[in-house]
Parts: sequence; C-alpha cells; structure tokens
Amino acid sequence: MSVEQRTQVGIIGAGPAGLMLGRLLSLHGIDSVIIESRSQSYVIDRVRAGVLEQGTVDLMHEAGLAERLGRLGLRHEGIYLAFNGGRHRIDMTALTNGRAITIYGQNEVIRDLIDARVAAALPLHFEAPAVAIRDIETRQPVIEYEMAGERKRIRCDFVAGCDGFHGIARSAIPVGVLQSYERTYPFAWLGVLADAAPTSEELVYSLHPRGFALFSMRSPTVTRLYLQCDPDTDVTAWPDDRVWKELTTRLSTDDGWRPAEGTITQKAVTPMRSVVSEPMHHGRLFLAGDSAHIVPPTGAKGLNLAMADVYRLSLALHDFYTTTRTDLLATYSTRGVRRTWAAQRFSWLMTSLLHRINPDNPFDYKRQLAELEYLVGSRAAMTSLSESYVGAAFD
Ligand code: APR
Ligand code: PHB
Repeated sequence: MSVEQRTQVGIIGAGPAGLMLGRLLSLHGIDSVIIESRSQSYVIDRVRAGVLEQGTVDLMHEAGLAERLGRLGLRHEGIYLAFNGGRHRIDMTALTNGRAITIYGQNEVIRDLIDARVAAALPLHFEAPAVAIRDIETRQPVIEYEMAGERKRIRCDFVAGCDGFHGIARSAIPVGVLQSYERTYPFAWLGVLADAAPTSEELVYSLHPRGFALFSMRSPTVTRLYLQCDPDTDVTAWPDDRVWKELTTRLSTDDGWRPAEGTITQKAVTPMRSVVSEPMHHGRLFLAGDSAHIVPPTGAKGLNLAMADVYRLSLALHDFYTTTRTDLLATYSTRGVRRTWAAQRFSWLMTSLLHRINPDNPFDYKRQLAELEYLVGSRAAMTSLSESYVGAAFD
C-alpha cells in the first residue's frame, strides 16, 4: 500500500519553472507539493544560462524575490556584435523604450526560490522522482513517485509538468494528441566558467572564420565564455590553454579588445537543439518550461520562456480557484505555443546569423557578414533584434 497525500497542484520538477510556479501559487493562497528527482545541491550547482529578460526581472520582483537580484544582478543596456575584426554596439535600451536584460545566473534564481520555499515551510521533496502520472482526464489526477525506497502518491486537482526535457510529463499526453517539432543543429557549444574579471561591460557575440564565440559573465570577477564546436567534442581534448587560445583568436577585435584569461572552474559541452511540443495542456496536466520546448542557447530564451509559462499558468489557476472559470486554463497552451514559436524564430535567427554553417564553402560566411553589416547599419534592423532580445512583456 502506498502513502497518499493530497494537494491542489502537484508540481513535478524543481527547476526554475517548478519552483517559480510553486512560489506564485503560494502568493495566491494555492497549495502545492514539489517533487524533484535530483538532490538539492545538484539542482543549485548545475551551471546554466544567465540572461534574464525584463519580464523575468519584473516577475522576481512580483514574487518578492528581488533582494539578491537587485544587489548582484548586472543590468545590461546593450550587446556587442563582433565580425570582420570590428566590434559594434547595439544600444538595446535606447531602441526599446528603456528595456534591458540582467545578468544573474540561473543557479542564483534557483537558490532564491529554494530559500523562499524552505523559509515558508512548504513541501519540496528532493531525490523523489515521479514515476507515473495517472487519471489526467479526470478531476483528481495522481502523481506516483518514489522517495527513500517507498512508493508514494499525490492526489491533486492539477498536475504541472515542470520536469524538463528528459522528464515523464510530456509522454503522459496521449500519442495522437501530442505533436513534436524538432531541429538538431550540426554544432554544439563548449562553455567555460573562469575566475577572470570581465574585460567588457556587455556581452560580445562573435562570428569568426573559425566559428562562433561568446563572451559573457556572471559577476565582476567571473567570466562565462562559449565556443562553437562539433557536437561529439570531448572536453578532455580541450585543455585550458587550448580553450584560451581559441577564445582569444575568435573574440579579439582590431580595437585591441580581448578577454582576460583566468582559472577555468567549469567546462562542458552543450548540444544545440530546438524542440516544440504541442499542445502544452491535456485534461488536468499542464506542461511548462523545457518539458514543452527547448531552444538553442544563442538567444538566451530558455529560462525566460519557462518563466513566462509559469506566470501564465499561475494566473490561470488563480482565476480558476477564485471564480471557477476555466477560460484562461483553456487558452494556456495556445498563448504559450505562440510565444514559444516567437522564441524559436529569434533563437534560430541568432544561431544561423552567428555560427559557421559549412566551413568548406565560404558562401554562407560571406552572406552572414553582409547580413551583420546591414544589421549594425540599420536602426530598423537593430530595433527588431533588440525587441526580441529584451523580450516581449509577459501576458
Ligand atoms: N521527477 C521529478 N523531477 C524530475 C523528473 C521526474 N521524473 N524528471 C526530471 N525532473 C527534474 C530535473 O531533475 C530538473 O531539476 O525536473 C527539473 C527540470 O528543470 P529544468 O531542466 O531546469 O527545466 P525548467 O524548470 O523547465 O527550466 C528551463 O532550464 O534547461 C534550462 O536553460 C534552460 O533555462 C532553461 C530552464
Ligand atoms: C550565458 O551567459 O550563459 C549566456 C549569455 C548569452 C547567451 C547564452 C548564454 O546568448
């Protein structure tokens, strides 16, 4: 016999989506239980993205979680595009009526959310993988999970599948209902974290004959850098001196700018993939974040899309519990899918603009240079890029 708990919303996954949903629901007085397959330290320590759109920053404020963000977050009003030896600044804030992005690591967001959940003494179980989701077409779906060698059940009104790309929630939507659209890119990113003071106050995206490189940061003493590489790259083939040599080659510009070297503290390869699963809702199951969509990291949209999903879902659930109306829940998926495709469009655009596509044929490289020249010379084109980069308001 398994132990059964009861809650209003059962949340699978303690990534940014699941934790923020739990936080927003608690502010609306809605109960939830969060279960997470990994340990707390694994979830906090894994190195992920670090660019927050204005909408995500606003949501952190709304959620009462902006104290550390206000202190440690780095507000950026522009980005640089580097190509052909030049470095060109795009003044995103001037072009978008004052909107900006904020650099704040995803693991810091996770830390803030976990601290708030623990301080409020709300249920959050680590090392507790969901193994089955049942009865989603009824009003009382059930999540089955394992914890400390025991099989347990959560009976709830709604299940939120916030369990990322490798979770189980998506596959609970019946075959024939769920449609997936996928594109895998023929390259990956080798990412490093280094104890080195950033030499640029803003991000530098570079298209170089040897491939894409990105200069980013996490704090005034930590740099985050990426190199385009083959998808089957083995990090052991990239000792630190090779990484710095390649980064310096691909990022240095004719004005003398280059990244500073420092001790590399983390090194990993990230595959580049786009996936959209539709619909994001079936019966009483709602998907949010990476469980429903993956974007290549070039546009830095993954975390922000997840946040937009759970904001929308929290409002729809609040509306349901206060008025019994279901129209916001019913349109949760169509509104989310629209935002997802807009993010896919932008991520695809940035990815194809900045990566070497076919190194044996210089045609595409020359065309990309022409595209970049046009972009940095046209206020209209820079405005368009900036609008997508800072992100549309959450709805
Ligand atoms: N049971 C419980 N938890 C699970 C299960 C399961 N069966 N399967 C996966 N999980 C957990 C994962 O361990 C992970 O902690 O769900 C969590 C999903 O978190 P993320 O992968 O971070 O996804 P999400 O919250 O949607 O956030 C999207 O994360 O992938 C990055 O860069 C991406 O910024 C984006 C953001
Ligand atoms: C990062 O800092 O991790 C980062 C920044 C910009 C991107 C992707 C990743 O486009």
